[in-house]
Amino acid sequence: MQKLKPSQRAINTKPSPIRGLVNLANIQKAKGVKVNHFNIGQPDFPTPKDFFTEVRKFKEKVVAYAPSQGRAETQEAWEVYFKSVGINYKAEECIVTLGGVEALFLAHAALLDAGDEILIFEPFYPYYENHADILGTKVVPISLSIKNGFHLPPEKEMQKKVTKRTKAILFCNPSNPTGVVFTPQEVKTVAKFAKKNKLWIIADEVYREYGFERAALSMAKIKEVQNQVILTDTTSKRFNLCGGRVGVLASHNKEFMQNVFKLAQSRESVPTIEQLAVVKLLKNAKKYYQPTIKLFKERRDAIYHGLQDIAKTVSGLTFQKPEGAFYIIVGLPIKNAQHFSEWLLTDFRHNNTTLCVSPAAGFYKTKGLGLNEIRLSYVVGIPIIKESMLMLKKALSEYQNKFPKLCK
Ligand SMILES: Cc1ncc(COP(=O)(O)O)c(C=O)c1O
Repeated sequence: MQKLKPSQRAINTKPSPIRGLVNLANIQKAKGVKVNHFNIGQPDFPTPKDFFTEVRKFKEKVVAYAPSQGRAETQEAWEVYFKSVGINYKAEECIVTLGGVEALFLAHAALLDAGDEILIFEPFYPYYENHADILGTKVVPISLSIKNGFHLPPEKEMQKKVTKRTKAILFCNPSNPTGVVFTPQEVKTVAKFAKKNKLWIIADEVYREYGFERAALSMAKIKEVQNQVILTDTTSKRFNLCGGRVGVLASHNKEFMQNVFKLAQSRESVPTIEQLAVVKLLKNAKKYYQPTIKLFKERRDAIYHGLQDIAKTVSGLTFQKPEGAFYIIVGLPIKNAQHFSEWLLTDFRHNNTTLCVSPAAGFYKTKGLGLNEIRLSYVVGIPIIKESMLMLKKALSEYQNKFPKLCK
C-alpha cells in the first residue's frame, strides 16, 4: 500500500522567512539568553484600551456567525475609515476578512485561474507566493534593487514580464519588506501600465499611514483604474491589533464583488466579537494611529543612524533610508545571511543578549537574490534599537574573523 503523504503542494511550500528562526530563538530563550527581535512586523505598542472595552460590551446571547461579507456595523466602519483617508468605498463595497492576509488570498483566488500569472515587485511579503502555490497560479517577479532604494525599474522592464497569462499586478505601498514609499508618479505609472495591459491591480496598503517623508498615494484614488483595483487592508498594524484578525477587501467592481463573495461564503465569517470591537477604532482611526507615526519615524531614524555608524567601520554595508512602514533591508558584507542569522542566535552573545533578524532571500522569488541581505523590523523601542545596532557591529566583526571565507 502507498505510504500516507501530505500533498506535494504542501511539501513544496517554502517556510516563512519571518518565522523561520523563531524556534531557534526560543531554544536560546529557554537557556536564559535575551533575544532582541527584529524579525516580526508586530508593533510593540499596546492595543488601544477601547478595543478591550468594546469586547466587554458584547451582550448578545449567542456568539452567532456574522454574515460572510461582515457585520453591517463593521462594513460601515470601514467606509467611515476609508472616507477619513480620502478613499471612497461604500459599506457594501467592503467585505470584512480575516486580517489582510485573507483579503489577499480571496482577491488572488477570485482573479486568477490555475496557470495564470501575477506580477509582483520583489522582494515581497512572502505569503503572496504561498497563495500562488495553493492556487496553482504563478508569481512573476519584477526585481527591485537595494541600490536605488527599491524604487520602480523603467516601465520597459515591467513590460517584458507580461505574457498572455498575466492577469494581475500586486502592488504593496508602503512596502514590506523594503520600507519604500512609492512616489505618486510611480503609483500612476503602475496604474497606467495595468490599464494598458488590462490587468487587475491588487493594492496592499496595510501600512498606508506610515509614510515618513511623503504620504503614500492610494491606488484606490486613481480614477482611471477604479474598476480594476482591489484594495486590501487590515486593522493589524495601525491599531497594534495583529491578533484581532480583522481586515477588509474593497472594490468598485460589481462582478468581482459578486464572485469573491461566494468564496468568502465558503469560510463562513470573521469572528463576530472582534469585528464589532474594531468599529470604534475604525471610526476614530486617526486618534489611535497618529501618535505611533511619530514614534516609528524616531525609530526609523535611530536604526538608520545606527547603521550609518556601523558603516563607518565595516565596509560593504548597503542600505537606504526607509521611507515608510517599519522595515529596512540591509545588504551585509557576507555571502550567506541565513548562516549569519542562525549564527547570531546560536553563538553570538553580548551581555547574554543576541539578535533575531530575517534573512532576506526568502522575500525574493528569483534564486540568488538577497543572499547577503537581512530585513530588520523596527518594532522595538529606541534603547533596544541602539543596543542592537552596537551588537550588529560587534557581530559583523566577530563573524568576519571567524568565517573569512563566508565574507565578501
Ligand atoms: C504587506 C503586508 N500585507 C498583509 C499583511 C497581513 O496582514 P494581517 O496580519 O492583518 O493578515 C502583512 C502583515 O505583516 C503585510 O506586511
